[in-house]
Amino acid sequence: MSAILEARDLTRDYSVSRGAFRSRATIRALSGVSFSLQAGRTLAVVGESGSGKSTLARLLTLIENPTAGSLLIDGEDVAHASAAKRKRLRREIQIVFQNPYGSLNPRQTIGKALEEPLLVNTRLGTAERKAEALSIMAKVGLRPEYYHRYPHMFSGGQRQRIAIARALMLKPKILVLDEPVSALDVSIRAQALNLLASLQEEFALAYVFVSHDLSVVRHIADEVMVIYLGHAVELGQRDAIFMTPQHPYTRALLSATPVADPAARRERIVLSGEPPSPFAPPPGCPFNPRCPQVFDRCRAEMPPLERKQGRDVACWAVAP
Ligand SMILES: Nc1ncnc2c1ncn2[C@@H]1O[C@H](COP(=O)(O)OP(=O)(O)OP(=O)(O)O)[C@@H](O)[C@H]1O
Ligand SMILES: [Mg+2]
Repeated sequence: MSAILEARDLTRDYSVSRGAFRSRATIRALSGVSFSLQAGRTLAVVGESGSGKSTLARLLTLIENPTAGSLLIDGEDVAHASAAKRKRLRREIQIVFQNPYGSLNPRQTIGKALEEPLLVNTRLGTAERKAEALSIMAKVGLRPEYYHRYPHMFSGGQRQRIAIARALMLKPKILVLDEPVSALDVSIRAQALNLLASLQEEFALAYVFVSHDLSVVRHIADEVMVIYLGHAVELGQRDAIFMTPQHPYTRALLSATPVADPAARRERIVLSGEPPSPFAPPPGCPFNPRCPQVFDRCRAEMPPLERKQGRDVACWAVAP
């Protein structure tokens, strides 16, 4: 089966000011990230704050262009597509943000908000747009009478349903979910995750699910990509990553996550130091200043992401 979404060496630099009297600096927010995703599957992207998760989400949804690398949606290379083709590809991949309130216009009723993408992108008439909006509302568990209500009249969980409904209006094949449940109360988080699971099944949606919550990732992911300072350091099937993590950074992340089964409880690995500044990444492996297994080569040479122990991992200390 061919991939619905494929990233090849995606890289994104930002030029940032370092203050008065100092030259601008370039930071590499994402560095050579590759993966491929099949229809109906979920790739979870995990990593600490500033690791480049949202940057990746913006590149995948064509909100920003990569500095280097390429992106294929449904087999089409986005960079080489005609304007018309690009517009069509953009419809295939939609984003849901952590805080849907920011993306909902407070003066627009839910019905209008849902119909807007149809108004802009399709030739459907008023009645057809309304019918589509009501149909998607039903699918995400929003009652028809909410159609005339405004965003402030909803709870956080309902607003996230509205954001999901809006992302689905153009019948995309892929959803990029950037911390979609992080702002929700624990009690409604499970409902939102169940909704995403049933929508995925119904529409064969592929998900790229950005999260720092590993208990959520374990629940929803088929594959997991761990990123550190813009680099993918480990990528593999969920069970390989959770049961036998290989990269010292993945191990440290997992050791900090509570597990229900006491037999599976791991020794907690505490990472020393702050993540390095993206202005001055260390030479060699980006994780080397905090790594409990560091040796000379790690400070000199960047390890490539390569197949070892049944997953892709970028670490000199992992045996082939
Ligand atoms: N528009 C921008 N201009 C300059 N730097 C940026 C820009 N967007 C992101 N960055 C930088 O790129 C790096 C990655 O940021 P990004 O938002 O992708 O991280 P993240 O993994 O989503 O973090 P969080 O978990 O906090 O959401 C950070 O160092 C950030 O400061
Ligand atoms: Mg982010």
